[in-house]
Amino acid sequence: MIRNDKDLSAILVIFGGTGDLTHRKLMPALYNMLLDGLVPENFRVVSIGRRDKTEEEYKKEIRASVEKHSRNKVDESIWSRLNDMITYYRFDFREYDGYLMLKKYLEEIDEKANTKSNRIYYLAVAPEYFETIVHGLHIADMARKESSWSRLVIEKPFGKDLKTARQLNQKLLEVFDEKSIYRIDHYLGKEMIQNIMVLRFSNSIFEAIWNNRFIDNIQISLTEKLGVGSRGNYYENSGAMRDMVQNHIMQILSLVAMEPPVNLKTDSIRTEKLKVIEAIEDITPEFLRENVVFGQYGKGVIDGNPVVGYREEENIPKDSNTETLVAMKLHINNFRWAGTPFYIRTGKRLGTYGAEIVIQFKDLPNILYFKDSNIQEPNLLVIRIQPNVGVFF
Ligand SMILES: NC(=O)c1ccc[n+]([C@@H]2O[C@H](COP(=O)([O-])OP(=O)(O)OC[C@H]3O[C@@H](n4cnc5c(N)ncnc54)[C@H](OP(=O)(O)O)[C@@H]3O)[C@@H](O)[C@H]2O)c1
Repeated sequence: MIRNDKDLSAILVIFGGTGDLTHRKLMPALYNMLLDGLVPENFRVVSIGRRDKTEEEYKKEIRASVEKHSRNKVDESIWSRLNDMITYYRFDFREYDGYLMLKKYLEEIDEKANTKSNRIYYLAVAPEYFETIVHGLHIADMARKESSWSRLVIEKPFGKDLKTARQLNQKLLEVFDEKSIYRIDHYLGKEMIQNIMVLRFSNSIFEAIWNNRFIDNIQISLTEKLGVGSRGNYYENSGAMRDMVQNHIMQILSLVAMEPPVNLKTDSIRTEKLKVIEAIEDITPEFLRENVVFGQYGKGVIDGNPVVGYREEENIPKDSNTETLVAMKLHINNFRWAGTPFYIRTGKRLGTYGAEIVIQFKDLPNILYFKDSNIQEPNLLVIRIQPNVGVFF
């Protein structure tokens, strides 16, 4: 049989079907995709977890999460379609014998639902399990097939540093082709982020001034009022730098600073983003001393409510040195940006919640208006990502 990559009939197999990511993001997203008519007819979802619950109980919890987190109100007919698509499958994914049973279970669904043996394996689990699951899929021969496609989806964090990221990459590539691996940054799905390229490359007024001759500096700020909450175990091993900067902020920075790609194909966009990242000045000990500030939140008051410090949060050691705030200044050493600093800020328990990019233009000659009072404010272009979306002057 010839493989048809355009046929999107498939089973979405979620490892971590009882977790936070599935409840808060994946299921509400699936619900909204159904609402928008974006889910193929022959599509099923198998949610894997260890918790002892009936399918009915599982679906009840998912419904509650969709109601809480979906951007659209729950419509009964759409919910009933999602409800019919989902099954809950109990399985400890560290036990390799179980993968053959899972494979059989999925093949039975293929028969009933005509899902064409296509698979999307979504790893909504802690990163230390990525290799375990991929190995399990490999030994049960569930990853590569001649007549159907299989895709692997992984969220951040992708390794802890360059060495571990390369090791993980190597392991994944032993089992899946590069084109079948989707390293997801859900931040890129936000409406305004998707529009940065449109804003820049389809408005002639911007492209001519989008460079170091007209722009004084660029500020990218992703700030949260929330603390670490129940995610202490994860955050303590990550910190703000790994949690926010190396993924979301680097993606935003590259979209803001990149050259126009030759076309809108994924590889062409990736090539231009990579050039930006390669042009970032070297990170040396001197650079760190001069240009980077790390911080950690202490106890205080947010919106009138007392909140504990980071070291008093659940699962955080009393002597933790993990950073919950990063502020840095960096330069992109290419023709477009040499001399224009980029300021990055991100942190938890800050005074405001939001995400925005501020483009600050160079001052005009102070010879006409306000020339005696010196109160001319800089011209700013603000691209707001959240809480509300928009572009402001
Ligand atoms: N939450 C977010 O907003 C978010 C955002 C970006 C990226 N991520 C990434 O997404 C991944 C998942 O995060 P999360 O917050 O959803 O974690 P989580 O709430 O701790 O969920 C972990 C899931 O893994 C399952 N699991 C753990 N060990 C298992 C085993 N041996 N066998 C079967 N299932 C097992 C758990 O099922 P049981 O409890 O039923 O055993 C649970 O469904 C992480 O890599 C995280 O970094 C999360």
